[in-house]
Amino acid sequence: MRFYLVVYLLLFSVACTNTSSPSPTLDAIPYPKEPALIPQPQHLDITSSQFIINAETVLWIDDVYQKEGAYLQKLLHHSMNVDLKATSSAEHNFIRLTSLKSKEPLPKEGYHLQIDSNQIIIYGNDAAGVFRGIQTLRQLLPSTFHQKEQQEAWAVPSLVINDHPTFQWRGMLLDCCRHFFSKEVIKKYIDLLAYYKMNVLHWHLTEDQGWRIEIDRYPKLTQVGAWRKGANGEPYGGFYTKEDIREIVAYAQERHITIVPEIELPGHSQAAIAAYPHLSCTGEQLEVGTKWGVFKDVYCAGNDSTFQFLEAVLSEVMDLFPGEYIHIGGDESPKYRWEHCSKCQKRIQEEKLKDEHELQSYFIQRIATFLENNGKKLIGWDEILEGGLAKNATVQSWRGMGGALEAAQQNHNAISSPTSHAYFDYKLDAIDLEKVYSFNPIPQDLSTDKHHFILGGECNMWTEHVPNAQVLDEKVFPRLLAMAEVLWSAPTQRNYSEFYQRVQAHYPSLEALGVQYGAETMPISMEVFTSTESINIKLTKGTPDLELYYTVDGSTPTLHSTMYETAIPIKTTTELQVQAFKNNKPYGVPIQRTFTKHLGNGLEPSLSYEYSSYYTGGGVQAVSNGARGSLNFRDGNWQAVQKVPMEITIDLQAPQPISKLSTAFFQKQDSWIFLPTKIDFFMSNDGQNFTRLGTVSNDVSPKKDGSFIQTFELEAKNTTARYVRLKAHNITYCPNWHAAAGSEAWLFIDEFVIE
Ligand code: ACM
Ligand code: ZN
Repeated sequence: MRFYLVVYLLLFSVACTNTSSPSPTLDAIPYPKEPALIPQPQHLDITSSQFIINAETVLWIDDVYQKEGAYLQKLLHHSMNVDLKATSSAEHNFIRLTSLKSKEPLPKEGYHLQIDSNQIIIYGNDAAGVFRGIQTLRQLLPSTFHQKEQQEAWAVPSLVINDHPTFQWRGMLLDCCRHFFSKEVIKKYIDLLAYYKMNVLHWHLTEDQGWRIEIDRYPKLTQVGAWRKGANGEPYGGFYTKEDIREIVAYAQERHITIVPEIELPGHSQAAIAAYPHLSCTGEQLEVGTKWGVFKDVYCAGNDSTFQFLEAVLSEVMDLFPGEYIHIGGDESPKYRWEHCSKCQKRIQEEKLKDEHELQSYFIQRIATFLENNGKKLIGWDEILEGGLAKNATVQSWRGMGGALEAAQQNHNAISSPTSHAYFDYKLDAIDLEKVYSFNPIPQDLSTDKHHFILGGECNMWTEHVPNAQVLDEKVFPRLLAMAEVLWSAPTQRNYSEFYQRVQAHYPSLEALGVQYGAETMPISMEVFTSTESINIKLTKGTPDLELYYTVDGSTPTLHSTMYETAIPIKTTTELQVQAFKNNKPYGVPIQRTFTKHLGNGLEPSLSYEYSSYYTGGGVQAVSNGARGSLNFRDGNWQAVQKVPMEITIDLQAPQPISKLSTAFFQKQDSWIFLPTKIDFFMSNDGQNFTRLGTVSNDVSPKKDGSFIQTFELEAKNTTARYVRLKAHNITYCPNWHAAAGSEAWLFIDEFVIE
């Protein structure tokens, strides 16, 4: 930031020095904006002048960079409505793309950008570097430039930049299977990736819930596999034709972005199996997946026709994608079917494999060999380490950084995209802008001599909960800006508060580029301090530039509601809603919470169980603090245990008349969370001998889908008691019909309400 203020004050007082083309509209040219570049260049010096791009500006493009020149000309045409003329020499008012070495040689994708009042020169050793330099130039233009608002001239600040990426692999995964995104959305994202100097689009094209790439040899993959039963009963889906893919690949090539297609195997393959049932162990006809999760039907590893199928598919994929890598997934492939399949067991014997993990390794190695024979390299998720890594395979580490560490220690390349920092499907309470910005793609324990095996990183945009392009934008932006800077700029350059200011400066351009970006962080965090008198709510703003407004009557907060200043004391059962505002506009979604005032508030319960460290509900008092859980079981108000029952006893300190005992539990069976089978309620006056007041049984099926909350209540007429207790009986294990049959089931409680 050393340069900004001082130099710009100077700049604003300097008359326009470009005299080559007197323009009647010069007054209308906005001053060049203060450079707020993302990613931050490695070296940047501002000088006190500006360059005006106008109709007389000529393009002086080296032969080797004609494509980049054409891209630049198109960009300027959109915003000036003229085609700048080409030249092969000029004295002033030119933009030059050149490979002529003016300085020391640059690293791959590096560029040197020099702007003064006479000229813009972008020098690079490679076309990708020149292209990255053009993106820097693009970021120096005002937001109106991106709107394609046509103007006769544009000003850019003069400066000198020397820049190159820290990591060679700067990617984003886009899952187009859980939800389908049109060709236009893909192209918009390629353009946005280019704008932030990312260079890989990892395109997730096959899944349980949809097959999205046309394959001539197996037409049913898209005729059947691209369509699932949607929520409204109508078919949901779509796919990319070969023509679409060629168009997208060409669009990406023009922007120096490599598309890495992902064809999942052996798991996450239910859509393919629905199209061609012979590919699975059972041969049963399945439907294209309609739920999210991990499913036991995978490609049969004993069946040679599986490999014939996959090789034919991969051949067509290789014909479409010119990049050197193919991603084959390899994650989350349950071994259940293989354990029970005679063909898979025969393969294990014949190949002298130890178990199903080695069978998976056999599967991946066979595919790796096929790819290698066709001049391609394999990438797989970190599960491909299990049972032995295929020769030359690149590992994409997602379950933490352990996979990247292990791969690099085995002298294999790795890409880091851990759930802790890189999962953009996660909500902001888990991964906000600052968290992404703190990401280091190099595993902590990796010795320096092996750092070069870490090619870089990716952010992963899984789309189970991303039904449309607007939600996609909200999740990807602005977090992508942090990932872009982490992967490009040297770690020593990073300073979050300074980056945050640059992000603010990018919003007008993002708006002009049609991005409906989301929030940077959870706008509001809430703490609850409950006493026997009141439930006190303390709110904290996610960033200092927010204002919080709240209501207690169930209405949506506006700027006319009560502004939050100090803790809110709640003395009766209340629905609280809080909304953050930034620049007087709503920022993020409102928080909506119910607080129940009852006799147990502020008392410390005794618990028969040790609650999960992930789902504490805020601690021991979770079940008596009055704070009710929402339909998001990670909202911090739910307390949970696995397998065991929950017994909760509350000492009311003195005998009290009681009219009702109640409690609420959560169910989301595909996350292994089930309602209790029944609840027993008890009372006691000595804390030793408890009398059962009644049992409320659960009549909701454990198979019931979705997220929901069930209340269990018992009227307790004419009861006086000092101690009350509930016992919630756990279903213990996921039932036989369940996708995770035999795994320990969860109980989630939010409150034991005593009235
Ligand atoms: C993954 O998130 N299953 C790679
Ligand atoms: Zn099998």
